[in-house]
Order: sequence, then C-alpha cells, then structure tokens
Amino acid sequence: MSGDKPSQMMRSWQANAQAWTHVVREQRLPSRRLVTDAALLEAIEQCSPTRVLDVGCGEGWLCRALAKKHVEVIGVDASQPLIMQARAADPYPQRYHHCAYDQLAQAGHALGQFDLLVCNFALLDEVLLPSLKALSTRVTETGHLLIQTLHPWQACNGQPYQDGWRVEQFSDFAGEFVEPMPWFFRTLGSWLELLAEAGWQLQLLREPLHPQQQQPASLLLVLRQCSAGDADTFEIGK
Ligand SMILES: C[S@@+](CC[C@H](N)C(=O)[O-])C[C@H]1O[C@@H](n2cnc3c(N)ncnc32)[C@H](O)[C@@H]1O
Repeated sequence: MSGDKPSQMMRSWQANAQAWTHVVREQRLPSRRLVTDAALLEAIEQCSPTRVLDVGCGEGWLCRALAKKHVEVIGVDASQPLIMQARAADPYPQRYHHCAYDQLAQAGHALGQFDLLVCNFALLDEVLLPSLKALSTRVTETGHLLIQTLHPWQACNGQPYQDGWRVEQFSDFAGEFVEPMPWFFRTLGSWLELLAEAGWQLQLLREPLHPQQQQPASLLLVLRQCSAGDADTFEIGK
C-alpha cells in the first residue's frame, strides 16, 4: 500500500468495486445475511421515513430494497465504479450520485433534504467531523441519522481497545479483492463523543446479536440533531 490511509481507503473501494458487488449480491457475508441487513431494515421501518439518503450506498442494495417498499431513496458514494454498478442494477439509475460526504454540505445542494440519513458500514475515515456536520445540512428538523457500524468490542479482535487505523485484508475472499482497505477503528466512547461533537444526539442504541455466536454483530445508532435546548445537556455531560 502506498499513500495516506484515507486515500488508500477510497482507492480500495474503486479497485475492489467488482469483487465487493459480487460478495454483497451473492450474500456471501454471513453477518449481513443472518443479522445486520434485517436489523437495518427493521430500524429504518421504525423511523417510517418518506425520503431516505443512503450515505455511502456502495453497489446500492439498500436503495433497491427501499425502492421496492416504495420509499423514495437516493444513494451517494465517492466510488465511481460502485455508483456505476448501482446504476446498472436499478431501473431508476438517476437515484445514484457520485459524491463524497463532505460535498453534501454545499448550501442549497441539489439533492435537497431527507427525513432519514442511513450510513451502513460506511463511516470508515479517521476525520469524520466535517462529514457528520455536512450530513446535518441534509436532514429535516425532525429527521434522523441511522448508523450501523462494526461493533467495537467485536471489531477490536484482540488488539488494544483504542482508536486507530486497522486494515481489512478481505482474506475470506482470497484473490478476489485486489487492494486491502485501511479503516479507522473507534471505541464506543469515541463514537459517542464524536457524534455529540458533531451535534447529533443519541436516541437509540442497539447491538444486534449473531444467532449462533450470541455476540453482537454490529452497533446500530439512531440519532437526531441537537436543538438549541439540548446544548445544556451536553455541557453538563462533558
Ligand atoms: C463497506 S462499504 C458499504 C456500502 C453500503 N453501505 C453497503 O451496505 O453495502 C463502504 C462504502 O462507503 C463509501 N465511502 C467511504 N467513505 C466515503 C466518503 N467520504 N464519501 C463517500 N463515500 C464514502 C465507499 O466508497 C464504500 O462504497
């Protein structure tokens, strides 16, 4: 690997786009098949959204699933090859936009506002504050941000429980993925601190369990934007 970690991470989603598309569409990730896809869809349904932004949509499985349920949904991703895969698999290809999270902050962004923003295993960078603040500009006043991410206690994988860059080698899919993917590990405390700093208030925290291992397969957070009245709460909590 060469270059800085965030660029390597984004480069991997370009180089691995085809392999990733096959793995997702063939449901070859057991945790997704058995737990996290259903947990995400259930949490989305409970928010009863009318307009959803799939943030880091990848090859577009979630957009397709929501569109089937007649939910209006738009997908954005910074990987052009994944956006192309998503467009090719959807009768409404216009729903996918090649866009990095930070670009969503542009005032009067053409995509408009959404009552639900969903990030499914898509917040992988060390510096996330600008992205999380950019997302605030896309959500309606009463809307929500739903994040599903690796469960920190599971993802820690015997390494020190502290923030830092890790590398996904995709070793379960030997030979198919051409680039390793650096990603930034965060402790639970670090996630909560970051989200509060970005102005997102936690409404719900779930830890969907793997049915056989009885261990958390992911961490699922539902948040809403802090209003002026919430500010004191965070000051006190500091
Ligand atoms: C693990 S994949 C998940 C894709 C999809 N959400 C899913 O559930 O299959 C992570 C995705 O996040 C995208 N991504 C990561 N950082 C991004 C950024 N700053 N801006 C836009 N997309 C980003 C990658 O291109 C990749 O498609």
